[in-house]
Amino acid sequence: MREIILAGNWKMNKLVSETKSFFGELSPLVKDCKNTVVICAPYTALAAAVDCVTNANVFIGAENAHWEKSGAFTGEIAADMLAEIGIKYVIIGHSERRQYFGETNETVAKRTKAVLNAGLKAIVCVGETLAQREKNVTESVLNEQITLGFNGITAEEMKNVVIAYEPVWAIGTGLTATAMQAQTAISFIRQQIKNIYGEAVAENISILYGGSMNEKNAAELLSMPDIDGGLIGGASLVAGKFAAICNADNK
Ligand code: PGA
Repeated sequence: MREIILAGNWKMNKLVSETKSFFGELSPLVKDCKNTVVICAPYTALAAAVDCVTNANVFIGAENAHWEKSGAFTGEIAADMLAEIGIKYVIIGHSERRQYFGETNETVAKRTKAVLNAGLKAIVCVGETLAQREKNVTESVLNEQITLGFNGITAEEMKNVVIAYEPVWAIGTGLTATAMQAQTAISFIRQQIKNIYGEAVAENISILYGGSMNEKNAAELLSMPDIDGGLIGGASLVAGKFAAICNADNK
């Protein structure tokens, strides 16, 4: 049985005051949830979020980390800085970082390594754009993102990696991939992981779906055999909606 992870991605949303009231609402709603619940928050909200966690199944994540341990990198945050304040997960290679901030598969590999070296778990995002899907190159795009994005990561280290399949055309658009489209892509990703790291790593790694997941479509997506949770943007900003996703039926 793979770990089922529901991870919220707040992106550039929520003040400290809003973070506190969010957790005040969320905590009682997910206290009996048997899945792993993660909230990835902006840097300024992280310490407050860590203080707000009262449930053993809830963890706080960041949305990025630099690959160096320290140094002259104005505006960046190192993985050790996140570990020190109680962060457990870091999103790496989100499509918004790839699209707006020059993130590449090469920098994804470096950031992932740094996150793992700091003893944290990496949620590594992959996914094709609409143009790529329409050109029928989804599989080669995913394959390249995986091959280059995990370059230098060992099978042992992959135990602390979670993959999020997020088709770019489904993010924030209200256009969800159908459960079958998501299942097909995620099973392809698992096969690629098997080719590189072998059966045991592929069978144990949690692969999430992300892209307009909400309280209405979560149960169907999570019923698919290869979908081990979700990375949830918009719907994670509202405690009641996010809790409904965390508590949705899954296999
Ligand atoms: P969305 O975002 O749920 O708002 O589509 C998902 C994500 O970007 O991780």
